Amino acid sequence: MLEHTITAIREQFNIENESIPAIADHFSDELEQALHGQDSSLHVLPSFLSAPSGMEKGRYIAIDLGGSNIRVMEVMLLGQGRYQVLGQVSKPLRDPGGSYDLTAADTSGEELFGFIGALAARIVRDALPFRLGFTFSYPMKQEGLSKARLLRWTKEIKIQHAIGKDIGEMLCSGLRRHGLGEVGPVPILNDTVATFLTGCYQEAAVCAGSICGTGHNTCYLAPERKTAAGRDMIVDLEAGNFSVLDSNQYDCMLDQNTEDTGRQRLEKMVAGKYLGELFRLVMQDLAQKGVSPGALKIGAAWHQPYSIGSEVLCWLQAPGKEEEKKLHSWMEKQGRSRDIEEELALLRDISTVILDRAMKLIAATYIALLQRMPSRDQYRRVIAVDGAVFHHIPGFIKGVEQIVSSFLPQYMVTLLPVQYGSSIGAAVAAALAEKAEPTS
Ligand code: BGC
Repeated sequence: MLEHTITAIREQFNIENESIPAIADHFSDELEQALHGQDSSLHVLPSFLSAPSGMEKGRYIAIDLGGSNIRVMEVMLLGQGRYQVLGQVSKPLRDPGGSYDLTAADTSGEELFGFIGALAARIVRDALPFRLGFTFSYPMKQEGLSKARLLRWTKEIKIQHAIGKDIGEMLCSGLRRHGLGEVGPVPILNDTVATFLTGCYQEAAVCAGSICGTGHNTCYLAPERKTAAGRDMIVDLEAGNFSVLDSNQYDCMLDQNTEDTGRQRLEKMVAGKYLGELFRLVMQDLAQKGVSPGALKIGAAWHQPYSIGSEVLCWLQAPGKEEEKKLHSWMEKQGRSRDIEEELALLRDISTVILDRAMKLIAATYIALLQRMPSRDQYRRVIAVDGAVFHHIPGFIKGVEQIVSSFLPQYMVTLLPVQYGSSIGAAVAAALAEKAEPTS
């Protein structure tokens, strides 16, 4: 009975290698529609930025509003792809101790950006005026480098306010309230664009940037869009919203209980916010069917939405002693400490089918993009990647890279992991904005 049910689950998540080109084709079609202003689940959102030269230099403040944290960093760009982090401070959007929750429905734009201003004031000590870049990891419509309106919140942020508002104005007013008034025009950029800039600052062959962290998304250097200087522009695809995908019963259950039902279909299959929840839904189903071994009937966590984080999948996949310890202590909390080998084998199996699908889906979108891009370097194609899923799930980056390479043997495809891409990229954007300003 157990074997039979597991096989059925495996089939529901399985994507045959032969089906990957069809998914890539759907992605390509959706992108084509978006480029032509037709209905599509993808966007082509202009960033007003192009590739950096790698020679940008100077001291900048980077503010990064991500899916789980806010980080402010002081960065010294040293040129030739090198940088130094001079200081940083970060805070979660939601205090685990419960003292505040900036993701709640009634959070106002003033509160959120005031919080950011207070954090920035802790880093910006002596060097006023200062130059600043702001990474904003949500869909936004940019009218210029420093002017952008929020289209919608994602990643289960419940805030009702701020949609349609000018993000730059809200940020500057938050900074002003904390004594940081002397800010020039602040470049605003998506986190994928920041990841692109960070990667490209170090490696000129980078042609796309992608995140798989709390959320998922990809941007690329689009020959179809030009900056005012006539250079290819980096565009944000909001790839997490790609929707021409087969969903299984667990995807549908998950989607039904999200803040944005029907949207972000790809993101809900691959991103860190949702991988643990998908895993929980499968295990809960097994327990309800009475086919899973002991522990899974016991732990209250299995019945509580979003109680299982994607780190559990990471521990299950990692061969290291450290992860094994964490896994065992987590299992103990579930009420199990002995004779858990059979249960662990099952959990491992389920996590593998969920992660395999995630890798294949992301790979399919990269194949679509790389196929259509005239690379600046004919043979090498490099995608800069960042986010906890890429960095922490063992084998994830290599797995995606291998799948993409197997379908594009004519190129040397590399996924380049970057650290703090969202922050370093904001500093690079600030340097590019400074350079672009007319001198009087
Ligand atoms: C957002 C994107 C962002 C991605 C990764 C998604 O939920 O819509 O704008 O790039 O998460 O953070």
